Amino acid sequence: MRAIRWMAWILVVLVAGATIAVLVSDDVRDTMLGTPGEGTGIANIGGPFELVDQTGKTVTEKDLMGKPTAMFFGFTHCPDVCPTTLYEMTTWLEQLGADADKLNVAFVSVDPERDTPELMADYISAFDPRISALTGTPEQVEKIAKAYKVYRRKVEQEDGEYTMDHTATIYLMDADGQFTGTIAYGEAEDIVMTKLKRLVAGG
Ligand code: NI
Repeated sequence: MRAIRWMAWILVVLVAGATIAVLVSDDVRDTMLGTPGEGTGIANIGGPFELVDQTGKTVTEKDLMGKPTAMFFGFTHCPDVCPTTLYEMTTWLEQLGADADKLNVAFVSVDPERDTPELMADYISAFDPRISALTGTPEQVEKIAKAYKVYRRKVEQEDGEYTMDHTATIYLMDADGQFTGTIAYGEAEDIVMTKLKRLVAGG
């Protein structure tokens, strides 16, 4: 009888332990994959913002609702990462075909001091016309950079100019403005296309 009671207790402890292990590993896995999970804090990416696009029109988070969004941060003086990303985004939109119209794509400046709407308009005209180029006051840019947890840092150069270090990740948001994942800089194209198709399909 005593032995059976002990066995029962050991079983209870094992089941409880296994349950905790599954819960913890789920959270860890969500964090590693960058997919939203309850309690990971990852879903806290995004939020309200107000910026201006390359035509001078005010754009807020509400203007992006109703369609999923791919958003990335950069600046027009960027020597390679930003033009590469914009060029790649242009080819991805081409590959998406008609589905590309079911997606918002936004390029957000991390360099509001130099990136005026006029400069953004000129710069973005080399890429797919469906890409919105957003900028704003330093305070407005600071707000969205904080909301998206974007790293950006001014780096002074010898010629008296400066460049910007910045997050090169593309943020994927669903039609309700909820963060759903990322595309890393240099990610393989087949994986990128899978992610974009899934995003457009609402999955
Ligand atoms: Ni850049």
